[in-house]
Amino acid sequence: ALQASFACKAHNQSQSYLANNQIRSSFKVAVLGAAGGIGQPLALLIKMSPLVSTLHLYDVANVKGVAADLSHCNTPSQVLDFTGTPELGDALKGVDVVVIPAGVPRKPGMTRDDLFNINANIVKTLVEAVADNCPDAFIHIISNPVNSTVPIAAEVLRQKGVYDPKKLFGVTTLDVVRANTFVAQKKNLKLIDVDVPVIGGHAGITILPLLSKTKPSVTFTDKEVEELTVRIQNAGTEVVEAKAGAGSATLSMAYAAARFVESSLRALDGDGDVYECAFVQSELTELPYFASRIKLGKKGVEAIISSDLQGLTEYEQKALEALKPELKASIEKGVAFAQKQA
Ligand code: NAD
Ligand code: LMR
Repeated sequence: ALQASFACKAHNQSQSYLANNQIRSSFKVAVLGAAGGIGQPLALLIKMSPLVSTLHLYDVANVKGVAADLSHCNTPSQVLDFTGTPELGDALKGVDVVVIPAGVPRKPGMTRDDLFNINANIVKTLVEAVADNCPDAFIHIISNPVNSTVPIAAEVLRQKGVYDPKKLFGVTTLDVVRANTFVAQKKNLKLIDVDVPVIGGHAGITILPLLSKTKPSVTFTDKEVEELTVRIQNAGTEVVEAKAGAGSATLSMAYAAARFVESSLRALDGDGDVYECAFVQSELTELPYFASRIKLGKKGVEAIISSDLQGLTEYEQKALEALKPELKASIEKGVAFAQKQA
């Protein structure tokens, strides 16, 4: 049922895998920031996964109650709680996938980069602990600004001598989820059929939906392309403004992050047909990190899909060039922060 709830055809390629496999149900997942707005619904969705045997919930406070509550759900996984730095190491030992939504969210009027000063330190500290306790795990970074926190995480792992670029992901699944929803609404398509690759990064104009690559093939007027692109780029701000000071997207983010966790677990479990968009180390462009479609395998990123960048429309090509300076600056800011701290 959970598989079906993440359904879109491209994401649903697991049907044959599901039919042919005995689900192993033995993966350990840790959520760091588990008592937060994203952390709680994300933990619930992961608790529903048949692939998870143990769910480790870590936060600096309030995580005991969340874990007690969740542990009453009669799904297979065991839930364990960990509070504060002294318990962080134990929260990470033996874990296959670490998801990091720890950090402060935006308020109206802020950019994601305004979160840098607080969240950079949080991500750095948490990734240091990941390096020390589960260096082979897949690491999913949700904390903003993703365009900088992923390079920070990479530098920290590098400094610790355990960086595997195939296993570090900035989570951009929400951009794809939004693009699929908005395109299906605008073009009156069945939601399950729609898949739009979103490339670049995860902030403002660095979020670039490739509408010309929408599956199934759809035609858009120039006005539709402009409206949809801007809406997808500003969708985070749309939620921040609607919440009016009470935070940013949490429920749709939890849904998107759970989809990315499920895809990662399926890949770890041997499904050979798992594709997602994510912000990863990349040679697709001259930038060292870039979001694009990737193929996931047992060892992480198995392939970066370059075909989406071929045959772009003029609008997409211009938008791609326009996003590069901002994305480059955000990446460099993250790298400089981590190197200064070393
Ligand atoms: P929140 O404030 O509701 O929750 C954050 C949680 O992190 C809190 O429970 C807090 O105690 C915890 N935390 C703080 N410092 C910590 C530390 N050192 N170790 C462990 N936990 C710590 O915020 P939220 O709405 O859940 O958002 C979290 C982050 O996710 C924000 O930075 C937000 O911008 C980002 N976000 C990213 C995306 C994306 O698409 N990548 C989408 C939405 C939100
Ligand atoms: C989002 O896209 O919803 C998140 O990055 C949160 C935000 O600050 O917009």
